Amino acid sequence: MSHLETQNLIYVYGEGTPFKITALDNVNIDIQKGEFVAIIGHTGSGKSTLVQHLNGLLKPTDGKILLDGENIWQSKSKIFDTRFRVGLCFQYPEYQLFEETVYKDIAFGPTNMGLSKAEIDERVRNAAKYVGIPDDMLSKSPFDLSGGEKRRVAIAGVISMEPEILILDEPTSGLDPMGREQILALIKNYREQTGKTVIIVSHSMDDVARFATKVIVMNSSKVEISGTVDEVFEKSSRLREIGLSVPQITEIFIKLREKGYDVSEKIYTVEQGYLELKKLFEGRGIS
Ligand SMILES: Nc1ncnc2c1ncn2[C@@H]1O[C@H](COP(=O)(O)OP(=O)(O)O)[C@@H](O)[C@H]1O
Ligand SMILES: [Mg+2]
Repeated sequence: MSHLETQNLIYVYGEGTPFKITALDNVNIDIQKGEFVAIIGHTGSGKSTLVQHLNGLLKPTDGKILLDGENIWQSKSKIFDTRFRVGLCFQYPEYQLFEETVYKDIAFGPTNMGLSKAEIDERVRNAAKYVGIPDDMLSKSPFDLSGGEKRRVAIAGVISMEPEILILDEPTSGLDPMGREQILALIKNYREQTGKTVIIVSHSMDDVARFATKVIVMNSSKVEISGTVDEVFEKSSRLREIGLSVPQITEIFIKLREKGYDVSEKIYTVEQGYLELKKLFEGRGIS
């Protein structure tokens, strides 16, 4: 059974108005426990609308969302439960920090869950550790932190609820390269340590190739392609048609192959590229 699934999901903004927009048009996705899913697609393709359905923040116009086989909208208690089991971190989540200390911000979710003070404390410290926020920062005001630190605090605020599924909507957008690497490393590390299902909306094909076990490509409110990294990036010409790219390293290998070099086009990470070039050089007696 799928861990999280959508069945013919349809969502219309402004139904019954002249501004009606169908943001999701018959979307079917299917996610297994422990997968690391990347959702990609150009701006306006429906990614944020889709992820806001997965934790019950938006209610489908039509279709279903199933969590462990059960419709999340089947009852009030089920939808309440879903919001804790599926944690969603919005794009630019730092705009939603509002408490007077970092500690209180991270504690907000667990407090709403009705946990004891001791349990809340343990969760706050644990979540802070995952995102690399040191103890002495917990008493600071979130407004005194750097952009990257604020982002990490916001992510800790979701992790502290210990959701079974963690969803991050463009978690690295607007950060400098170092801030981006830190966020990606912490997400990767979190998944490896907890084995939990992680879903990321991402713009960077290079990042997606490095971490995803499954890629879902959205285009014009629909799922255009879905599969493993290989299955998706293999369709490089279709991706270009819909305004997306393949990883830069893949472009290089496609060009090398066009120029007659005996290399694979199915190279999606720098590591794979290194091994492929090594093979090529060794074949020519260069090492
Ligand atoms: N709150 C909203 N009200 C009306 N239309 C919206 C709203 N949010 C998004 N949309 C529209 O829905 C479509 C999908 O948007 P979105 O899910 O934000 O896409 P993405 O995250 O891929 O950029 C776009 O056409 C967008 O303009
Ligand atoms: Mg978006």
